[in-house]
Amino acid sequence: MMKISSWNQYLSSNNPWSDRLLGLKKFSIKRDLEQVEREYDQEKYGSIVEFEFNNIELYRTKELENYGLTEKDNTFISLSEEIFETNISLAWSIYSSIISSFVKRYNPSRICELGCGYGYNFSYLKNICSEVYGGEYSTNAMKIANRLGLEVQNFNYYNLEDYQIIKAGSSILTIHSIEQIQSAKYFIDGIYQLSKNIDFIFNFEPCFLNNRNSWIGTLRNRYIEINHYNKDLINILKSRNDIEIIEYHPDYIGINPLHPTSVIIWRFK
Ligand SMILES: C[S@@+](CC[C@H](N)C(=O)[O-])C[C@H]1O[C@@H](n2cnc3c(N)ncnc32)[C@H](O)[C@@H]1O
Repeated sequence: MMKISSWNQYLSSNNPWSDRLLGLKKFSIKRDLEQVEREYDQEKYGSIVEFEFNNIELYRTKELENYGLTEKDNTFISLSEEIFETNISLAWSIYSSIISSFVKRYNPSRICELGCGYGYNFSYLKNICSEVYGGEYSTNAMKIANRLGLEVQNFNYYNLEDYQIIKAGSSILTIHSIEQIQSAKYFIDGIYQLSKNIDFIFNFEPCFLNNRNSWIGTLRNRYIEINHYNKDLINILKSRNDIEIIEYHPDYIGINPLHPTSVIIWRFK
């Protein structure tokens, strides 16, 4: 079940972001590799790496459990600037079907997901593409992925040589991982080295948008600022004349309504 909700309801229900976004509670995160180590390698993946599951869904369930949640619990999702209430399980399945259906239309022969965590997205992408592999900074995430038989290698967006993991004939996918890097320039320069061997690039990433003029838009930009998430992805893509943006859908869906996913599909000319 999914029902229409309101921003008032979402931001009133003990949502800690209300006070932070209004500046009533101090909040600022420096987003460097140390933060990624802490937030992802140690907290998110480090807390589940000890479990030797052979089914990826069990890791997902464990992650939720660590936040005191189950898949049946209520959550909010946004579509553009509309907001809905549903349960976590349905929210996730809507999200993964959206990603799958965008990617499927381009019929990629290989998908390389950069910043792929322990490869959760591979579990539904393998239904639309026979080869899905990836790269990830967190050693703990890589350990889980490899235990599950997934092809995930060590990869750091900031290292030019790490992009050599990309195999010829791949399309590149990112889902909320460029958000973690200080400038998207590292990513674009990195894949540019291999541009002749790359088909399409699918970015499912939040975007800082200079031209926001709605209240919700202002909150979303502010959310990016206080978390120090990436701000320049869409601007860099638009400014380069060797890049063709094929599709661009700002704020398409938000599993986190304050930090929604924009869809950008592009290629090197
Ligand atoms: C929000 S999670 C998304 C994970 C995965 N794409 C997904 O959709 O489940 C962000 C991921 O980016 C990774 N990451 C952050 N900085 C990175 C870097 N410099 N190089 C490679 N991966 C990085 C984190 O370790 C984390 O796994």
